[in-house]
Amino acid sequence: MRENQPIRVTAARQNARDEAADLGIDHDFISLLVDSFYDRIRTHEELGPIFNDAIGDNWGPHLDTMKRFWASVALHDGSYTGRPVPAHMKLEGLNPGMFATWLGMFEETLNDIAPTPDTPIFFMERARRIANSLQLNIFYNPTTSARQT
Ligand code: HEM
Repeated sequence: MRENQPIRVTAARQNARDEAADLGIDHDFISLLVDSFYDRIRTHEELGPIFNDAIGDNWGPHLDTMKRFWASVALHDGSYTGRPVPAHMKLEGLNPGMFATWLGMFEETLNDIAPTPDTPIFFMERARRIANSLQLNIFYNPTTSARQT
């Protein structure tokens, strides 16, 4: 069975790309989504300072990282190789309510620019899952977090 493995992986990847393509999702749309979302969030009263304190003048590299992240999630292109949990663990002042705000702004951005009605659903399913996983690691995992909520 082992020799079939690469073929299955390739087929799964192709299915993911086909699903994304049907929803108008390609590298250009991901680039627009990331630029539009972070344009909004960096001026947000509560979340803006957290991003600006951590990122400073390095918005270009952060946006490139986020484009690779979403291309890996949506298009399975394998271009993101970072570690989101430690990147968020070190942020001061993060709380669970901020994740709800983040998700709300991500959904608003998608609703404004999505090429099909189902495109926001595709991204929000994934964003919610990842946000939940980040929160479990940051706020609720006694082996990796000393924080209390
Ligand atoms: C309250 C909500 C959030 C805040 C305030 C936040 C803030 C940040 C900041 C400031 C960074 C840059 C860290 C650094 O470069 O030093 C970062 C990185 C990142 N964030 Fe978030 N984030 C939030 C939620 C999310 C969610 C929901 C996702 C995914 C769906 C996400 C995905 C990422 C990824 C992939 C990185 C790059 C990590 C790396 O490889 O360096 N973030 N975030």
